[in-house]
Amino acid sequence: MGNLSLTESRAWKALLDHKKNIDRKHLRQLFADDPGRGERMTTEDIGIFLDYSKNRITDQTLKLLIKLANQAELKNRIEAMFSGEKINVTEDRAVLHVALRAPKGSKIMVDGKNVIPLVHEVLDRMTDFSNRVRSSQWKGHTGKRIRNIVNIGIGGSDLGPVMAYEALRYYSDRNLTFRFVSNIDGIDFAEATRDLNPDETMFIVSSKTFTTIETMTNAQTAKEWLLKGLGVDAGAVAKHFVAVSTNAKKVSEFGIDTANMFGFWDWVGGRYSMDSAIGLSTMLAIGPEHFRSMLKGFHEMDEHFRNAPFERNMPVLMGLLAIWYNNFFGAQTIAVLPYENYLKRFPAYLQQLTMESNGKQVTTDGEKVTCNTGPVYWGEPGTNGQHSFYQLIHQGTRLIPCDFIAFVNPLIQVGRHHDILMANVFAQAEALAFGKTARQVRTEGTPEWLVPHRVFNGNRPSNMILTDRLTPDTLGKLVALYEHSTFTQSVIWNIDAFDQWGVELGKVLAQRIIPEIENPSTLLEFNHDGSTNNLIRRYRKMKNRHNNKTI
Ligand code: F6P
Repeated sequence: MGNLSLTESRAWKALLDHKKNIDRKHLRQLFADDPGRGERMTTEDIGIFLDYSKNRITDQTLKLLIKLANQAELKNRIEAMFSGEKINVTEDRAVLHVALRAPKGSKIMVDGKNVIPLVHEVLDRMTDFSNRVRSSQWKGHTGKRIRNIVNIGIGGSDLGPVMAYEALRYYSDRNLTFRFVSNIDGIDFAEATRDLNPDETMFIVSSKTFTTIETMTNAQTAKEWLLKGLGVDAGAVAKHFVAVSTNAKKVSEFGIDTANMFGFWDWVGGRYSMDSAIGLSTMLAIGPEHFRSMLKGFHEMDEHFRNAPFERNMPVLMGLLAIWYNNFFGAQTIAVLPYENYLKRFPAYLQQLTMESNGKQVTTDGEKVTCNTGPVYWGEPGTNGQHSFYQLIHQGTRLIPCDFIAFVNPLIQVGRHHDILMANVFAQAEALAFGKTARQVRTEGTPEWLVPHRVFNGNRPSNMILTDRLTPDTLGKLVALYEHSTFTQSVIWNIDAFDQWGVELGKVLAQRIIPEIENPSTLLEFNHDGSTNNLIRRYRKMKNRHNNKTI
């Protein structure tokens, strides 16, 4: 590409030109001209079937998108990631979540050291620990078995564990209760623990850095809750607290024995860490075997991403389609719509994965990007979304590409429910693509004044991801699919998908404001902007008034 910006490059311009042809063709037309596309524009590997035929593309679009990927040297970038190159340039780190699920015998070098044995050593320790807790061998301070597990963490140290727990609940040990505390809002901790018995409760403090204010405050509160509840001193912590972190020093300063710490490494990004020791709560819930089967699923998708030709490569195709709509149609968002209730937290999980990764405005060289980057990912499980926001997707003025995720076999067969669920997901994709013309509406006898309201323009794109059933292995594949689609997009835009400087400023400012609102003896003169000064003053006054009243 030389010194040309992405948007001046040959592959980009070819897509811009081509878009004019696509604009002239409705999906109805594309299917009429090419009846085979419903079967041809699909790909299947490792048990996942992707139908991308209902996208506003032709074979030529795909060729041009793949040229764009080749121009960005996607193949080399994938290899660079898998071989441990420091592709997180702003933090000078390797990006090796793929090492977390690589088989025992493999070899990935970081700074001259093979990291695979380290990964398996931690996995073995997690296995041993999980077995001891699950079999009641591990006892709390008063000799009772552990029945409640509370994961304390935020961002990548929470969203993955929560999502995986919900997704794999079917496989979980129902004798154990799992809770997740993330928010600094004290309500989160209070509600999560209100009905728990401290004797039977274990806290997992999950934090890569072990400095995050939300997690450290919640962990401190948990320690006080436990010691007060047991009526003992700090000696009880060892039986009720374990840590997952890369920071042994901070873990031990907090009072957790590093023998009860499960480590990971700076080459695992927070949002890419649910398959590291951050997944300890997942392993406790579903057991080590299921956890390893999830890792196997991740690994199979890694291998698919690394080896499948781009024409049949699911993360590459989905990443390129995201670019197509984001950059050539001006679409701002992508809706992820799982037709599987267990995946209810999957869209929330994807929000951090995709948006903390690709919400960037400069390239890896620090140049301002010349096009939009990361789209907003959002969604809800079907069919609930159908009775809520789907109206806008069907008849609103915005283009919202959708990813439907569906499973052929339900985990629990309840009457006719599953066939009805599946009929809905297929119907939604059909309705979005083909809509309903004014002529069709009229032939139904609709009065003329109502016709425009009942027309569905169609031509609204979607992917359909179809697989057998939701297993730990499938979940691993789905998460890796989105991880690699996110990476694919970042390579095209040449941005660093693995840093997150954008979260820093708010953290620093909050640290400055905390003493200003906590300490009543500080003056009411603050050095922020007029609005922030006023808000702080108002908060302090109202808080004082309330406190005086309640005393
Ligand atoms: O929100 C910023 C962030 O650094 C995320 O990237 C990370 O997942 C989260 O905070 C939690 O960080 P930690 O695991 O270090 O507590």
